[in-house]
Amino acid sequence: MSQHTGSQTIWISAEAEAATQGKSTQPWQATGISIDTRTIKQGDLFIAIKGDKMDGHQFVNEAFQKGAAAAMVSQPPSNAGGPLLVVGDTMKAMQDLGMAARFRSHATVIGITGSVGKTGTKEMLAVALSALGQTHASKGSFNNHWGVPYTLAAMHPGSDYGIFEMGMNHAHEITPLSKMVHPDIAIITTVAPVHIENFASEQGIADAKAEIFDGMDHNGTVLLPHDNKWFAHLKAAAMTRGVKVVSFGQHADADIRLVDCLEAANGSRIKAWVQGENVDFTLLIPGRHIAINALSVLGAVKISGGDMKKAVAALETIQPIAGRGKRELLDIGDPSNPVTLIDESYNASPVAMRAAFKVLALIDPGRGGRRIAILGDMLELGPNGPREHADLALPLQTAGVNLVYTCGTLMKTLHDALPANQQGEHRATSKELAEIVPDVLTPGDVVMVKGSHGSRMDIVVETLRALPGQKNSGKPANKKGGMDHAI
Ligand SMILES: Nc1ncnc2c1ncn2[C@@H]1O[C@H](COP(=O)(O)OP(=O)(O)OP(=O)(O)O)[C@@H](O)[C@H]1O
Ligand SMILES: [Mg+2]
Repeated sequence: MSQHTGSQTIWISAEAEAATQGKSTQPWQATGISIDTRTIKQGDLFIAIKGDKMDGHQFVNEAFQKGAAAAMVSQPPSNAGGPLLVVGDTMKAMQDLGMAARFRSHATVIGITGSVGKTGTKEMLAVALSALGQTHASKGSFNNHWGVPYTLAAMHPGSDYGIFEMGMNHAHEITPLSKMVHPDIAIITTVAPVHIENFASEQGIADAKAEIFDGMDHNGTVLLPHDNKWFAHLKAAAMTRGVKVVSFGQHADADIRLVDCLEAANGSRIKAWVQGENVDFTLLIPGRHIAINALSVLGAVKISGGDMKKAVAALETIQPIAGRGKRELLDIGDPSNPVTLIDESYNASPVAMRAAFKVLALIDPGRGGRRIAILGDMLELGPNGPREHADLALPLQTAGVNLVYTCGTLMKTLHDALPANQQGEHRATSKELAEIVPDVLTPGDVVMVKGSHGSRMDIVVETLRALPGQKNSGKPANKKGGMDHAI
């Protein structure tokens, strides 16, 4: 992994030495940061991190062969192929570098946490703010004890905006991240029983999200989800710490309100009220949950004093991406009546599944087609896991899903809970499920594939995309639904 600012220098050796209390073997300057030689770029500072399985120190020479400007190490190799920055502990030094990057920055910094929707919100915000200034944002879900300092360390001193995703599996993990990021504006997307296996209660999750206030100043502002059952709890926690609260949601008292939302199969038309300003726009990512996440993006633009029109125009261009709602049309023998594949394989939790089924319900199958859900285990739910899976039977019925195919030990409980006419096959793994699913499809079907990342539902997606009749991969779907815009 590598984060880059083009050809702009982000660190020179003297500044990095001061930040990390390290010593360089010779002067250097770097235009990016890398902790993985598979994705390293010319000019990067390679940081040799010791992981559970690998030690980055083994890859220092490879980093130089691939054009690293310097390598930060705690154990210098005998014949390094370039300048070294020698530090006591590379993980600690990366955190120090990240904090120094934050300290020298004049950017408006936005920290995002929440049970679901962090990455989606971060991506919408990054697109919106990129229209207004130089924007630096976390890649993917780099939201933990190494992802956050790594992203910070890679922020250019000239950035106008910095956007940081912060995640957690346990209490007391957000506090140190927020102290590093020191957000001017925080967003808590939502609180829900996700990653609950390490918590005694849902309130514990709400409190863990509230740790984001620990890294904020008195003039900081948090955007809180007004419709969430923990809103009042979070608001009280923010106020105790002197953090200003701006709320977003459907609630009549929300400061940023969803006045109207016309939900269609391939997007939503939204009327929002943003602290006195009417903002109308179209999102090409469907679902009310996404529309509500977008309100927090409008809120961050408003609070930071950005040009709302420009930001919204950028927001309107965003398309769903692979693993996160991307749609493709598959020709399985009748080109006039394709199968619609919805790739939701990147992530899943009970709330996210329900939100995804509501989107599936909006999509009408083609002639003779059916709505089919292909589902893998939702992980990290603790002892409630089996019940949470079985409880999906009702929302699947409500969404008008005709057939449900499942894999994984937890999804077996859903399989068993389904009425016979909805029950597809169940298999132990996604690989085994991928072998049978192609034979199930008929022209006109709408197929949604979803599961936690670790359930590897991408294997099913790739199998379907490679079916005979596809030209390498499926074509983008653009024919369905009631809106003019293509997805
Ligand atoms: N407000 C919401 N309510 C319910 N589901 C949501 C909401 N926002 C996003 N989702 C769904 O939750 C899933 C995860 O979204 P996303 O990857 O943005 O979350 P995340 O918080 O970054 O997750 P992670 O903790 O894995 O990094 C997706 O399926 C997405 O559509
Ligand atoms: Mg994420």
